[in-house]
Amino acid sequence: MAEILTVLVTGCKGQLGSELRRLAKDPRCSFCRFLFVDVDILDICNRADVQNYMKLHKVDLVVNCAAYTAVEKAESNRELAFAVNADGVGVLAESCVECDAFMLHISTDYVFDGTALEPYKETDTVNPIGVYGLSKRAGEQAMLDKGVRGMVIRTAWLYSAFGNNFVKTMLKLGQERQEVMVVADQHGTPTWAADLAGAIIEIILQTDFSKRQGCEIYHYTNEGECTWFEFASAIMQLSGRNCKVQPISTSEYPTSCRRPAYSVLDKSKIKQAFGLRIPEWDDSLRKMLEDLKQQEH
Ligand SMILES: NC(=O)c1ccc[n+]([C@@H]2O[C@H](COP(=O)([O-])OP(=O)(O)OC[C@H]3O[C@@H](n4cnc5c(N)ncnc54)[C@H](OP(=O)(O)O)[C@@H]3O)[C@@H](O)[C@H]2O)c1
Repeated sequence: MAEILTVLVTGCKGQLGSELRRLAKDPRCSFCRFLFVDVDILDICNRADVQNYMKLHKVDLVVNCAAYTAVEKAESNRELAFAVNADGVGVLAESCVECDAFMLHISTDYVFDGTALEPYKETDTVNPIGVYGLSKRAGEQAMLDKGVRGMVIRTAWLYSAFGNNFVKTMLKLGQERQEVMVVADQHGTPTWAADLAGAIIEIILQTDFSKRQGCEIYHYTNEGECTWFEFASAIMQLSGRNCKVQPISTSEYPTSCRRPAYSVLDKSKIKQAFGLRIPEWDDSLRKMLEDLKQQEH
């Protein structure tokens, strides 16, 4: 009989965690025993709890979806952002080393400063320009420092029918207002969390984690690129909202944090390594809107 792989998914009530929970029902995953936990059951910052939990359940693989993701609030809540995104990741990495478990961790396009003119590769220099990006980079570094066998997948602009995100905000504003202003000078790629979850499941199905050494970084987003303005326009159009989207510049929309002007990620490495076919961002947006309708009924 094939060996059972015990997979601990942290932060399971978030967007990505919820999508993984849904996909974990795939019969192809029957060799996995998934343990889904969020902060109410397992706080990744609590070293003793994490170590005990992992030992008790004999965890082979940790998929860390737990994070402090409030990009703007992080500017005034630096301590909490670093506690979860850096120290908590370090606790998980340390515990994985102790249990000889593999760690699959999610990071962000916001580790880059946005000055590039072409999609960022995994080897490009990081230079976060906000607290959230700094804390996420510190998490990546913690994994490298602890010497965990692992994988970091950087993603971007996540949205899903679960949780709060830009798509849901625009749908709500589209109902309430006749016009919204959205920045048109920040370029990136919206990513449906269901697609990322699908890629993670595919990686789990293909990989013998016991044989993998070192810690590698990969980039995964949907295909294509757009601005927040183009993203908002597509949301209004595809959802049939009668709301005009007006393009504005970042300087016209002052916020507490700086965001990279360009954060498109090059996905060649993950596509080649795992033979992934990645959907275009607008096709996935269409699917998410259908999914949202179904969830609401
Ligand atoms: N959202 C994006 O646009 C985006 C973009 C790029 C990268 N990412 C990365 O992608 C990953 C998944 O993001 P997401 O959008 O799915 O995040 P999310 O929806 O904010 O979910 C994160 C989950 O982690 C939980 N959590 C917070 N602190 C915790 C702790 N100390 N211990 C255990 N769980 C804790 C949260 O609980 P509470 O809600 O109760 O705090 C929440 O359920 C994250 O690593 C994120 O940094 C996200």
